[in-house]
Amino acid sequence: MYRDTTCGELRLADAGKRVEIAGWVQKTRKMGGMTFIDVRDRYGITQVVFDSDNAELFETANKLGREYVVRIGGKVAERASKNANIPTGDIEIIADHLEVLNRSKTPPFTIEDNSDGGDDLRMKYRYLDLRRPCVRKNLELRHRMAFEIRRYLDSKGFLEIETPILVKSTPEGARDFVVPSRMNPGEFYALPQSPQLFKQLLMVSGYDRYFQIAKCFRDEDLRADRQPEFTQIDCEMSFVEQEDVIDMFEGLVKHIFKYVKGIDFNEPFPRMTWHDAMRLYGSDKPDLRFGMPFVEFTDLAKGHGFAVTEDAELTVGILAKGCAGYSRKQIDELTEFVKRPQVGAKGLMWVKFEEGGIKSSIGKFYTEEELKQWGERAGAEAGDLLLIMCGDAMKTRKQLCELRLEMGNRLGLRDKDNFACLWVVDFPLFEWDDETQRYYAMHHPFTSPNPEDIPLLRTDTGKVRATAYDIVVNGTELGGGSIRIHDSELQNEMFELLGFTPERAQEQFGFLMSAFQYGAPPHGGLALGFDRFVSILAGLDSIRDTIAFPKNNSGRDVMNESPSPIDQSQLDELRLTLTPED
Ligand code: AMO
Repeated sequence: MYRDTTCGELRLADAGKRVEIAGWVQKTRKMGGMTFIDVRDRYGITQVVFDSDNAELFETANKLGREYVVRIGGKVAERASKNANIPTGDIEIIADHLEVLNRSKTPPFTIEDNSDGGDDLRMKYRYLDLRRPCVRKNLELRHRMAFEIRRYLDSKGFLEIETPILVKSTPEGARDFVVPSRMNPGEFYALPQSPQLFKQLLMVSGYDRYFQIAKCFRDEDLRADRQPEFTQIDCEMSFVEQEDVIDMFEGLVKHIFKYVKGIDFNEPFPRMTWHDAMRLYGSDKPDLRFGMPFVEFTDLAKGHGFAVTEDAELTVGILAKGCAGYSRKQIDELTEFVKRPQVGAKGLMWVKFEEGGIKSSIGKFYTEEELKQWGERAGAEAGDLLLIMCGDAMKTRKQLCELRLEMGNRLGLRDKDNFACLWVVDFPLFEWDDETQRYYAMHHPFTSPNPEDIPLLRTDTGKVRATAYDIVVNGTELGGGSIRIHDSELQNEMFELLGFTPERAQEQFGFLMSAFQYGAPPHGGLALGFDRFVSILAGLDSIRDTIAFPKNNSGRDVMNESPSPIDQSQLDELRLTLTPED
């Protein structure tokens, strides 16, 4: 053994003991006849003192560079000047032995929580970045959560079953990553976007409670909460209805909140229909840490000769409490914000409700009396600011949603230690796409329609509600799921409505459809984004920080430089020819 003690465990009570530690040199300080070294390992940092009285040892210590790997022996002693910032800050080791186990090049950035390394540099040397305590903490949390989730689901009778990584390509949903098959030239596997079909097959097989902490792969545009490969806590249950699934996984989510944060949610998570979420917050994943719901003014806005609102399908606003004092500059900033290409609005209207009266950017078109009515509808009091947008209904709602979140940030209403969870229910089953002039499944083609809406399938397709649900935490979609169709006839009808010919449905999903002819039980499930769950509980801005070796926004791993070209011989073996780039 190289050590009998870690760098995180020594306390005052250990004074007088002789110990051996091993770790990395974080920092060296030379003071007179003494050299102080901070030694770091996974568990913490311990200060070691070398005294010039022991000349040989002292000389070796003075030659140590940052990140050298050392083994040190010595006696634990109380420190003269204590460091209250670290748990081992009361003690130090008076070294009597030093062995350099390995040397290190000078690292490209300081390996401390407040590193001087930029994002790109830290990702290139991710193995060094992972030595930083703040990064390590996230991976430790991820481990603890995975363990506890397994324990919890096991206690509820769920079996963890692995499903294949090389699967059949089913180009519904996001784009697939594909893998050429050498043994079957011209044919390809896909990497699974989720284990969806396999977990449904497991229900047919009678494994009525399945889960898997599963790797999923999607070739889609990346954002802070999206990685091309990510992890789901994927679950499926038989003989259940929506309420049973919601109940089970609300239980899991609450358990993990309690386990990690000590938070008790005594009330059931609120529910909101998709329709209300869009109408009141312009999003299917509203951040309910703060209110500021949308207030509609379309009726009040029309008929006043103001072309902008006259032509608009929807005029809608949010009330920013106490913001009537916003300066010209602040209002301009908000206007710039909504005009950014990411938001895409044409402009922003405002009404300030002040003690003395009303000021507004649309005062030319509406009298003070009329704007007072707008204020009453929004519940405005003196001191409040109404921010208003108008245009195409869906677009305007999405734009106002961005503004609402921005106002939430500005007003400090999106505290990371405050958690607002909710279920969004009653999603539409179908989504119309103007470009291709067809319906798409909003969730996936196996989602069951709400039984009440089955008669509308052919007559009012767009209105049909799905038995689908999302769990949302602080404006992030943590998970989603649905009750599935287990009746082959209804499934065939769905495929037809989604524009699949019977041949194409057979080709893509034939194995599922044939399985369903052998006694598929009623079933449903859900998947929680595990990276997102960790990131929410760790208070992180990006899921990248919960993943040991993540990809950047272009889907690259800048450390191992993947993706990368492959040898001609590999291409030949796979019978692949590359077309030259334009
Ligand atoms: P869905 O596509 O909603 O459902 O995914 C479930 C959850 O997975 C997470 N997630 C992601 N996390 C990181 N990066 C990504 N690119 C990414 N994409 C999705 C989200 C999301 O809520 N098979 C269905 C589930 C079911 O119906 O049971 C599915 O995959 O947190």
